[in-house]
Amino acid sequence: MKRRAVLGAGAAALGAAGLGWSLLTPKRPGKLLHSRAPLPRPFEARLTIPPVLSGEEITQREAELSILPGLTTRAWTYNGSFPGPTVVTRSGRAATVTHRNQLPEPVVVHLHGGHTPAGSDGYPIDLIMPEAGAAGGAMHHDMATMTGDMTVGSRTYRYPMQQRAATLWYHDHRMGFTGPAVYRGLAGFHLVRDDEEDALPLPTGDRELPLMITDRAFEADGSFRYPSGDSEYMNGILGDVILVNGLPWPVHEVDPARYRLRLLNASNARRYRLELDPQPPGGNAFIQIGSDGGLLARPIVHDTLELAPAERFDVVVDFARYKPGAEVRLIDRDNGNVMRFDVKGPKSKDPSVVPPVLSTTAEPLPPPKRSRTFRFGQGRDGTWRINDLDYRPGRALARPRLGEVEHWRFVTDFHHPIHLHLNHFQVISRNANEPGPYDHGWKDTVDLRASEAVEIAVRFTDYTGTFMLHCHNLEHEDMAMMADFVVEGAP
Ligand code: C2O
Ligand code: CU
Ligand code: CU
Repeated sequence: MKRRAVLGAGAAALGAAGLGWSLLTPKRPGKLLHSRAPLPRPFEARLTIPPVLSGEEITQREAELSILPGLTTRAWTYNGSFPGPTVVTRSGRAATVTHRNQLPEPVVVHLHGGHTPAGSDGYPIDLIMPEAGAAGGAMHHDMATMTGDMTVGSRTYRYPMQQRAATLWYHDHRMGFTGPAVYRGLAGFHLVRDDEEDALPLPTGDRELPLMITDRAFEADGSFRYPSGDSEYMNGILGDVILVNGLPWPVHEVDPARYRLRLLNASNARRYRLELDPQPPGGNAFIQIGSDGGLLARPIVHDTLELAPAERFDVVVDFARYKPGAEVRLIDRDNGNVMRFDVKGPKSKDPSVVPPVLSTTAEPLPPPKRSRTFRFGQGRDGTWRINDLDYRPGRALARPRLGEVEHWRFVTDFHHPIHLHLNHFQVISRNANEPGPYDHGWKDTVDLRASEAVEIAVRFTDYTGTFMLHCHNLEHEDMAMMADFVVEGAP
């Protein structure tokens, strides 16, 4: 609330000076923030893979991380690492994760892509207040925060896991503060596995790499640089360093063999157009096997992958298409380096295959019971809005019925990655045409550019209650581009 009030005041001042916000809206989301710390050259850090969570408890605490050479970064972490530990669960097997909050501020945990009952979904005012001891005297400043179902010190989230294998992720979701909390380090992978996927001969073990891509800027002392209360950044914050699994432009040695890359764009506002450089002979570097909601029906090949914030692309890259010794950069076409793969010979055994049929559980949804339209735009006060409304807990923009299929149409004036909680959806049209090349499979986040319209089909299943629809540009989300929807039971 505090942050939003400050940004709102800035917006009001500009309004008074006669500048409409629409005039200030740039063509692209986000404003670049430059680091004040000396930055390393790319490809000096070695890629690391986040540890897998053992047990069912995560402690959120501050930790000193080594990200830039010679400096430490004081971050907010899950269990002391950024990304947090990877939670691995099995489809159909209920899991719990207990979060203890030893941070100085309240937190909320959301499992992004989780098919989760409302009480464990991380509603933005269902706060976990800091453990008394850890918070010291620091709790007073947030007592004015709106609270829902609040707990003190810890909370146990229950995940039934009635969902397919997929690359999910968990992150902070506190109302008005999601951007800074995620930026400070509160994000991790959550992988769901199932029998259908296990039966496929996809690359596995060391050849299956979860890659969380984020951008950050750093202060001179090595801490993360995030502007507070500066209305210039309300379009989103872009850092000048790309981190993969928390390290700047890392390098990873690979065999000349197929690798499965689970790519996640966990950046606050940056979108990427990823390519391999050089491209393998003949192109089609990326064989996409999955999207936000798990395996596609059939693989799709791409030269370029466009990832808006929160989107996941599960791809297979065959490094045997390169000569041993090759240095293959993963680049963002717009901004340069992301990371590098160094192909080390000699050719080794590769039992993996990408089968022509991946999944039979991705059939289209039946026709809808009703359709709704959601307009994503900016109010004259500068706040981001859905259907001209800023976020208010308890105000539902839609009340779909349990078990029913609906078509939701998203219309925007600007670039917004739109995310739905509870159920994955299927994109059925983009700008009244076929879905785009990155719209395939079960999605939970869909990328919209200025003046675009996308229609999705979604069925609301298993759980009634309040869930979220929002922009996943985290600065937009914090500046109120979020709405409740309530799934209602049968009459
Ligand atoms: Cu990834 Cu509502 O969030
Ligand atoms: Cu989500
Ligand atoms: Cu947005």
